[in-house]
Amino acid sequence: MEGIRKFPLSFLIFVLFVSFGSCETIRSAMDAENNTSTLESIFPQVEGSKEKRDRYELTGREFMIATDHPLASQAGVEVWKQGGNVVDVFTAASFAISVLRPQSTGLLGGGFAIVYLPKKGKWAYDFRERSPKKGTASYYLKSDGSPDSEKILKGPFSAAVPGNVQGILKIQKQHGKLPLSDVIAPALRYAKNGFAVYSDLANVISKVWPNMNPSMQKVFGIDNRPIREGELLIQEELFQTLTRIVENEEKEWISGETIKLVSEYYKEYDGFISEEDWKQYQVKQMDPLVSSVWGYQMMTMPPPSSGVHLVTMMQLYAEMAKRKSFPKGIVGESIQITEAMKLAYRDRAEYGGDPSFTDVPVTKLISQTYIQDEVGEIEKKVVSGNWKENQNPKEPKDSYNTTHISVMDREGNAVSSTQSINGIFGAVQMVPGTGLVLNNTMDDFSIAPGVPNLYGLVGSKANAIAPGKTPLSSMSPTILVEPSGATKLVIGAPGGSQIPTSIFNTLYHYLIQKRSLYESVSFPRIHHQFQPSTLFLDPELKGYFPESELPFYRVQYGRHRAKVFIVSKEGDKLIGVSDPKGEGIPLGF
Ligand code: DON
Repeated sequence: MEGIRKFPLSFLIFVLFVSFGSCETIRSAMDAENNTSTLESIFPQVEGSKEKRDRYELTGREFMIATDHPLASQAGVEVWKQGGNVVDVFTAASFAISVLRPQSTGLLGGGFAIVYLPKKGKWAYDFRERSPKKGTASYYLKSDGSPDSEKILKGPFSAAVPGNVQGILKIQKQHGKLPLSDVIAPALRYAKNGFAVYSDLANVISKVWPNMNPSMQKVFGIDNRPIREGELLIQEELFQTLTRIVENEEKEWISGETIKLVSEYYKEYDGFISEEDWKQYQVKQMDPLVSSVWGYQMMTMPPPSSGVHLVTMMQLYAEMAKRKSFPKGIVGESIQITEAMKLAYRDRAEYGGDPSFTDVPVTKLISQTYIQDEVGEIEKKVVSGNWKENQNPKEPKDSYNTTHISVMDREGNAVSSTQSINGIFGAVQMVPGTGLVLNNTMDDFSIAPGVPNLYGLVGSKANAIAPGKTPLSSMSPTILVEPSGATKLVIGAPGGSQIPTSIFNTLYHYLIQKRSLYESVSFPRIHHQFQPSTLFLDPELKGYFPESELPFYRVQYGRHRAKVFIVSKEGDKLIGVSDPKGEGIPLGF
């Protein structure tokens, strides 16, 4: 026992977590620790190499940004050095990333942002795509009345009215310091001078190549073949579009040349997105959803984001952790985490949707009465041991896209923003003359009750298609604040349905298990999204996870897709981590 006392409580909790709940395994875990003094000896940490850590984690004091491309983080540093604030940094990185990751986001996409400036206030912005006036479910039904999942997933009718440009410009106008031309300058340069194609981009270009329309093949090809890794990607038309934004600002997105070109493109497609749609588009500004969670004030995005379901998930876990009746060790932890995830995604499927069209009972879903009642139900089921999941294996399709930007400065000024064109290269259609790829965000609506979307998510009538409506989203940009009001951390992720659980996993390891920020981001994850009825585990958990003691879950191993981008304050240090699964790095000083 001598060796055990040397270790902090967090380590003992860790041992409990990774042990299989029996004394025998707890003891052997401790023995292993005594022999080697490394956590990895008990639980493999694949992302743990020092080189990797040095690339994906950075410590500074003044300012820190974490994104999914080194040049997007660099764009942020550049405007910070010119005297910009965190909002200028976010704006520069947003425009830059739309040039650098056209497979993930872009000016014809949409997103959410939480802005927290401790001395001024806090805001939530919804600049997500909206269904066009013509957008009704009838577009996506075949003649026999069955849903046409292809039409809602690819091509001109899969796109909704974009909001990225309107949203980012509005936020910069309200809170930025620098002229727009300064904050867009890095993006203009990356588009005009080009950048070296990295492996992820080269891979998706070659995969999607046959489905690209001719304008898109022209930009992403050389000599009629897909551009390759290491070659220079120059986006001249996108440069022209960005230049028009600098000249005309938001007017360009109401009646400028870009809108004319998009409308021209849609003439062939029933005028699905019309000039009228652009005129009517409104960025929604509101208060963030603020709740007490795990000892912090959690500021997240209200519906149609999944922020509320993330709060429910975290509160359910906290309530279960207080009760003595759950099994202990990894079995108990796994049940608590999985059941919290399942219930939150059940709520999402049932209630999730645009609050202007449907009643999302936010107050109820995060109330203590609801949390306690629901935990009571889970407790009965778990204590009786007499329960079985229904087996419904419909797997989500694989996808890597969307992006997230986390920024914080020494004063705790912070921006958390997730932006997307939805699937890989969205609709896989470039609007001729613009250099812009259309989103395929109509697929985030529920085409019919119970029919899963790209991410295997199901929805109810609450998320049915209607003109002007915003589709439900998993994107959940979040900021945690200490009870004193000081900013603790900024977090968010791309990853479709796995966004909320990636944030949960990271915060669980960081705040509850007290691991380092880097370990918390890269620790093997667990995911359950209610449907399919499957517990997804990162492959490293194989052999360490007591499947035999969790017979009620259908377990499947596979890599969690979501990439977390986080900046956290520890004392006077700012630590940034860009998920080692991605291409990006944190930058700051
Ligand atoms: O808003 C949503 O839920 C989706 N459009 C996000 C897509 C996404 O994160 C894809 N990433 N793998």
